[in-house]
Amino acid sequence: MSIHNQNVAKKVTLTTIRKMKGREPITMVTAYDALFAKLFDGHVDMILVGDSLNMSFLGKEDTLSATMDQMIYHTQAVCNGASLPLIVLDMPFGSYTNEVDAVKNATRAYQETNAQAVKIEGGKERANIVKALTQNSIAVLGHIGLMPQFLRSDGGYKVRGKNQADIDTLIEDAKALELAGAFAIVIEGVKSEAAKAITQAVSIPTIGIGAGVDTDGQVLVWSDMFGFFEAFKPKFVKQYCEGAKIIRENLEHYTHEVKNRQFPSEEQTY
Ligand code: KIV
Repeated sequence: MSIHNQNVAKKVTLTTIRKMKGREPITMVTAYDALFAKLFDGHVDMILVGDSLNMSFLGKEDTLSATMDQMIYHTQAVCNGASLPLIVLDMPFGSYTNEVDAVKNATRAYQETNAQAVKIEGGKERANIVKALTQNSIAVLGHIGLMPQFLRSDGGYKVRGKNQADIDTLIEDAKALELAGAFAIVIEGVKSEAAKAITQAVSIPTIGIGAGVDTDGQVLVWSDMFGFFEAFKPKFVKQYCEGAKIIRENLEHYTHEVKNRQFPSEEQTY
């Protein structure tokens, strides 16, 4: 496979991301620690410290029990590892139920980490929260469509934008977030024609996950895209390598060598 040099040479700012709309697709991946953040540094425009870490790293069934302390701890690690991408802290469930709590928790995120923005889930019903944050100088990445934090109240994961009425609702959501000051919007689990219509309806970038090719950028959860998360694979995930298989094979190699006294060899011995 030939890989073109897609290195990001300079620190990515909110201005960089805003300017990319309609010009160059934005790349975003999740990261939860310094080791992987360092690997991703200079190769993507944005890193999201997603509350998906609750599932892929903590082994929980959904994202709902992630806490502010957890998100801050992992964002500090990511900021230690990566210096070039724009880093976003995902506000956990329950941390932005009203304007006061949202500003208090997001201020903590800014003071205790070097994240440049926070992400919150919700459309027009959360526009007041986005406005309160942006008015307090906290940059916000919106998130509409399928929203994992709404999983229980929505009765499961459901693809959105299947009819004109829902497309209109999603466009209204995106416009409300733009008006409230969001600098970009994640669109998750939405029919591609709906995501295209939303992208055309707002002047801020849209970043899709399971939303087709016509958004202004794409985001994937790193443990999904590299084949480490094996519990399930949503249709929209492309697995770029078989991470779990690679690790297992090499672990077996190590175990074999230890059991047979082949490791450590002279080379690894003082
Ligand atoms: O938590 C997360 O990783 C996310 C992405 C799926 C957008 O919200």
